[in-house]
Amino acid sequence: MASGGRVSVVSVSPIPKTAPFADDEIEALNRVVGGATPLQRAWLAGFLAGLDASSGAAAGVVAPAAVPQKAEPLTVLYATESGNSEKLAGDVAKSARKLGFKPALVDMADLDVASLKDAKRLIVIAATWGEGEPPARAARGYNELMGAAAPRLDGVEFAVLALGDTAYAEFCAIGKALDARLEALGAKRVADRVDCDLDFAAPAAKWIGDTLKVLAPNAAPNEKVIAVDFGAKTAPSLDVVEAEVSEIINLNSSRSQKETYHIALAFDGAAPAYKAGDSLDLYAENDPAYVDALLQAARLADPALRSELIKSRDVTTLSLKTIETYAGFGQRYVKELFESGSAKGWIVGRQLIDLVQEFPVALDAERLRALTRPLAPRAYSIASARSEVGEEAHLLISAVRYRTHNRDRKGVASNYAAGLKKGARVRVRLKPNKHFTLPGPDRDIIMVGPGTGVAPFRAFVQERRASGAKGRNWLFFGDRTFTHDFLYQTEWQDALKDGGLTRMDVAFSRDTPDKVYVQHRLWDKRKDVIAWLDGGATFYVCGDAKQMAKDVRAALVRAYADVKSLSPDGAEQAVTALEREKRYQQDEY
Ligand SMILES: Cc1cc2nc3c(=O)[nH]c(=O)nc-3n(C[C@H](O)[C@H](O)[C@H](O)COP(=O)(O)OP(=O)(O)OC[C@H]3O[C@@H](n4cnc5c(N)ncnc54)[C@H](O)[C@@H]3O)c2cc1C
Ligand SMILES: Cc1cc2nc3c(=O)[nH]c(=O)nc-3n(C[C@H](O)[C@H](O)[C@H](O)COP(=O)(O)O)c2cc1C
Repeated sequence: MASGGRVSVVSVSPIPKTAPFADDEIEALNRVVGGATPLQRAWLAGFLAGLDASSGAAAGVVAPAAVPQKAEPLTVLYATESGNSEKLAGDVAKSARKLGFKPALVDMADLDVASLKDAKRLIVIAATWGEGEPPARAARGYNELMGAAAPRLDGVEFAVLALGDTAYAEFCAIGKALDARLEALGAKRVADRVDCDLDFAAPAAKWIGDTLKVLAPNAAPNEKVIAVDFGAKTAPSLDVVEAEVSEIINLNSSRSQKETYHIALAFDGAAPAYKAGDSLDLYAENDPAYVDALLQAARLADPALRSELIKSRDVTTLSLKTIETYAGFGQRYVKELFESGSAKGWIVGRQLIDLVQEFPVALDAERLRALTRPLAPRAYSIASARSEVGEEAHLLISAVRYRTHNRDRKGVASNYAAGLKKGARVRVRLKPNKHFTLPGPDRDIIMVGPGTGVAPFRAFVQERRASGAKGRNWLFFGDRTFTHDFLYQTEWQDALKDGGLTRMDVAFSRDTPDKVYVQHRLWDKRKDVIAWLDGGATFYVCGDAKQMAKDVRAALVRAYADVKSLSPDGAEQAVTALEREKRYQQDEY
């Protein structure tokens, strides 16, 4: 008997694991229901019955779904780099649970490929990165699924949602490949794949709704249940907010061929609750001069359209989709270009303005809108820690400039940023990255960040210094020249003095006849690198995905082989093991 005259109740677990709730929800329910007295249970039963009866009528919500008696399993597999697919997969799981499924969320980075044969229903949401590659974290799981050891999947029902960007030649290549692969392994496609562009929210929501309806036909037509958690809705901490540029400095010397800007943003109130490793999405505007040239080429003079194009349309990207739309306007040569298959080559290095200038056709505002998609924000790693800079966030942005087809080109967001003046106001949104995070304070870290890849490591070092972390910090940095391109040079020197950095190795590719890059420095220092990793260090790579990140990984594999006398396979497995333990983390772009 408990004190105070209350009846003690033996806690039981009445909610079975198969119930249509997440494991943590089942735990919470068991805590309440398991310990409830008979009176409390009776009250709860009446309360829930009343809730169902009233909520539909009062709030206009349709009646609860005719859910399956026993929660049916549903595997939701996602391959993500910047979190979009992961967020969508989470939304699928939430909606599916409401339809009576028991969803299991699986990150392709953690995929045990053999286990897929036991999945009755499989929803795959996959992004494409690099030039038609899987997200780096997902590469192992993806390769295993594409490889000879993948199991037969007869009896598995599946559907694939592909995320991508029509600006890339290999649009949604990974989603397409997975869709074909699952079918080849014997699985049964229950819904057609949809390939989403950067503005994926609406098509993804529709696909998820349609697919869940197919998978749970008994639950139809419960639209509200499906849509309830889905859409652009995010936590308030992830709202778009304004910030003021409190400092902007070009960190390259005036004789450098590059311009890389340190930009400090001050928030009106509290800074978004970012942590070291997160990014900010920057909502840039187009260069008015470019928009004017485009309007001139289109023979249009419409101030309202001009303003709309500057603020909110992607007026530079030229994709196969743009060409197809343009061909539909009756331009004969463009139609031929598209139908002959030569458009894929023609668009390389070109922008929308090249198309409009070279192949004139009658255009109006509506047609121009149809040729453009919404202007997407660009992500920038946060280069500061709130523990050191308070209600600010710092960015490190390299101005993208190049020349192709006899025309100077400028990256939209990076040049918008480069042109900002102190006091200017910008719009940003926090983009958390839970796959690029600091380990415990006593762990060592090795950071490889050439160019702007060093940005998150400035945040790491600030954070570790402010929190008094005891683990050692080793930075590999590289750029073109020591004299003109050593980003944050004095800060690193100070950090080496005050212990913020334990070691730093640099590679300046244009200072020596043989180009030396960070991966060469890594190789030079391989004995110590492997010793740090054996001691539990976490290895980070940030920056260029096209070449650097691959070269660094390959150098680390060779370092394992050399230092530990491993076979190439054994060395590869050592790095794969690091990845699985989340001790090899990458943020590539
Ligand atoms: C998670 C994440 C973090 C990032 N962090 C940073 C950061 O800290 N600092 C930073 O500077 N950037 C960072 N980036 C990259 C950044 O988001 C933008 O992609 C970059 O600034 C270019 O954007 P833009 O709008 O200026 O160029 P866009 O207008 O998008 O133009 C870029 C496009 O131009 C074309 N192009 C570029 N160079 C050439 C060339 N030489 N020849 C032919 N075509 C070319 C390519 O098609 C390329 O896709 C990050 C990206 C991600 C995903
Ligand atoms: C560096 C980089 C490379 C990309 N490469 C491709 C590509 O080759 N093909 C494609 O369709 N999309 C490509 N994308 C677009 C992504 O697939 C798209 O942003 C997607 O929404 C990301 O989803 P995630 O957040 O789940 O990783 C690329 C994006 C970046 C930043």
